[in-house]
Amino acid sequence: MVVNSARALADRYVNFAWYEARGQSDAHEELAARIGHDPEFCAHLARCLPAGEKQRPGLLLAAVRYLDGPYAEHGPRGDAAYRGWREWTLRHWDEVSAVITRRRTRTNEPARCATLLPLFARLPQPLALLEVGASAGLCLYPDRYRYRYDERPEFGPPDSAAVLPCRTGAGTPVPDRVPDIAWRAGIDLSPLDPADPDDVRWREALVWPDATDERVRRQRAAGEAVRSAPRPRMMRGDLIDALPALAAEAPLGATLVVFHTSVMACLPPERREEFARLVPSVLRERSRLGHGPGHWVSNEHHSVLPWITTPRLAHPLPTPTTERLLTLALDGRPVALTGRYGQSVQWL
Ligand SMILES: C[S@@+](CC[C@H](N)C(=O)[O-])C[C@H]1O[C@@H](n2cnc3c(N)ncnc32)[C@H](O)[C@@H]1O
Repeated sequence: MVVNSARALADRYVNFAWYEARGQSDAHEELAARIGHDPEFCAHLARCLPAGEKQRPGLLLAAVRYLDGPYAEHGPRGDAAYRGWREWTLRHWDEVSAVITRRRTRTNEPARCATLLPLFARLPQPLALLEVGASAGLCLYPDRYRYRYDERPEFGPPDSAAVLPCRTGAGTPVPDRVPDIAWRAGIDLSPLDPADPDDVRWREALVWPDATDERVRRQRAAGEAVRSAPRPRMMRGDLIDALPALAAEAPLGATLVVFHTSVMACLPPERREEFARLVPSVLRERSRLGHGPGHWVSNEHHSVLPWITTPRLAHPLPTPTTERLLTLALDGRPVALTGRYGQSVQWL
């Protein structure tokens, strides 16, 4: 039994190395691949961790980083470094498994605001933002950051600590000001508090090595930029269960924008379909009651919302072949392809 699950877990690590980490983090790619080829260690993981979410490769790798375990910060390290990492992890297993038990894999990438902004800017203002899968809520503050699209002049609050650079493809309606936000609210199964040092430490441990410097710097700058802002209304719960009641709290007259970025992969397919039926019905109800307009903005990998098909770009920006693009859609219709970490937006 353990042998079978150890084998399945080994496959999970090898797949993680190939399909998730490759091109994103040399260190994670190598470490996950070495774990996947270490049957004894995989048997230990299969024996000690409950199946499912707690066996996610990213969770173990982040837990060791969070505890300041030995780690290949940049690039491949070789077998000796892997042995050191493995020995440390087994020696500190009680602490590692306690972190795995208590925590979940939750990142929050504020730079995705740069890819949402062209769409947000085109909707009737002011906006009432409701983000599902909001994590620490950093994407709920698109008006608190500065933006630099290609070589254009930067805009945004002059005193903001966070500058988000973004490349654009032909035809992208590049905005020149931040949106007017009347209300912000989020739903998450386990929201992170951007002001809590331990939550911040965990969020940073989840940022993959190789991307660490830039992404951690950006997250810290975004945390600084929103520090003095009033906290959004944040609900702990399931996005389907909590959405109707929270949406009903949106202020009259504002355009309600229900949005999500890189969240649907966390849901089983039937729940994604349920969510895709729920959002339009929530927005229709708002309009029927005369409370104001509403839109659904999704920014997800096309594989998780198969009913939103994405046409090919005639003139794609040059990007590494390993870069995964997300599909930005308005009310179920694709409008752009976006860089996974907010680094590019290409209008369709
Ligand atoms: C990969 S993170 C993305 C966070 C953020 N949207 C971003 O773009 O940085 C996915 C988030 O969705 C949340 N999540 C996953 N399933 C959920 C559910 N059923 N209900 C509410 N939140 C959920 C997770 O807790 C996590 O914070």
